[in-house]
Amino acid sequence: ANPSILILAGDGIGPEVMAEVKKIIGWYDAKRGITFDVSEDLVGGCAYDKHGTPLHDDTMAKAQDVDCVLLGAVGGPKYDSLDFSVKPERGLLRLRKEMDLYSNLRPAQCFDALADFSSLKKEVVAGLDIVIVRELTSGVYFGEPRGIFTEGNERVGINTQRYTESEIARVARSAFELARRRNNKVCSMEKANVMESGILWRQVVQEIHDKEYPDVELSHMYADAGAMQLCRWPKQFDVIVTDNLFGDLLSDAAAMLTGSLGMLPSASLGAPMANGRPKALYEPVHGSAPDIAGQGKANPIACILSFAMALRYSFDLGEEATRLEQAVEKVLADGVRTADLMGPEGGVPVSTSAMGDAIIAALDAS
Ligand code: NAI
Ligand code: MG
Repeated sequence: ANPSILILAGDGIGPEVMAEVKKIIGWYDAKRGITFDVSEDLVGGCAYDKHGTPLHDDTMAKAQDVDCVLLGAVGGPKYDSLDFSVKPERGLLRLRKEMDLYSNLRPAQCFDALADFSSLKKEVVAGLDIVIVRELTSGVYFGEPRGIFTEGNERVGINTQRYTESEIARVARSAFELARRRNNKVCSMEKANVMESGILWRQVVQEIHDKEYPDVELSHMYADAGAMQLCRWPKQFDVIVTDNLFGDLLSDAAAMLTGSLGMLPSASLGAPMANGRPKALYEPVHGSAPDIAGQGKANPIACILSFAMALRYSFDLGEEATRLEQAVEKVLADGVRTADLMGPEGGVPVSTSAMGDAIIAALDAS
């Protein structure tokens, strides 16, 4: 059977950027003889409009059944007043939870042509290529007890940072596996100086390393120092592994080293399936961008680079992933820009679909 993909384009610019990925999937079929079985379904606000739920059970079942899911974005002002239980984001959260996608890969890659775009000096970011692996299904966002309680005559807000050994071990393995496919280097970040969960995190990562991945170079850093180092000299890192909360902050900071939200892909990986590849969902980091939806202005590169990650991690097509990334790089080097990639000096931006076409032309030339 052909490898299978479930496309959940979602709301706002989701379908607009996904349309360009579909063109690229068509290109692989027509020009490279690599055929994917693609099915499509609804998630988020559009699913709520049709089914009264942001993720139908049938869609959930399909997601469990395919080699990977490609997601666009969910949400929008139309849904802001909905009850929390049916908000568009709940559809995405259900996918992550039921697929048990505990390892969130957020690359921060700086294409040379965009190095001027970074908030940092060009020499600090040019050629940057790192990945932050964030634990996604546990930690302080999920730990119990949680809630707002009354204590004496005032309220107290409580969250609990809680990690089990096995939760740390599996995300550590995911980071070490990734490192072996890259430059064999992992830096683990926590706050073992002030947090019990941090002490355990450091111990378990070190143990998994010593037992299973002694060939990978491992270092440890306090997460606050890590934040500083990410801004000072990010190229010292290759793979960073960290918990849910620190990963949320560090990956947003690292993302901005490289420029626009419209450039940033992500992968969320779970346990290996029968074929040995991890359960996986790929999506751009950005949201549904209601301010520009429907205008053909969205940058499709984040979604296209998310598909490149799918080629690499779900289909073992690393060379094809590199081909696609190089096509993106070529187009940027040629000066093709959507509006979000234009500086104050301006210029004429291209549309979402023209950006997709330019990338396909670069693929044709590759
Ligand atoms: P956003 O990422 O949608 O937009 C932030 C800003 O970046 C906007 O000015 C937008 O125009 C711009 N932008 C984002 N992606 C772009 C692209 N590909 N090309 C060009 N410009 C782009 O975040 P915001 O505005 O906070 O949220 C909007 C909606 O999206 C909300 O309903 C939010 O809940 C949802 N959201 C969904 C996410 C997801 O589906 N994973 C993630 C983040 C937000
Ligand atoms: Mg965030």
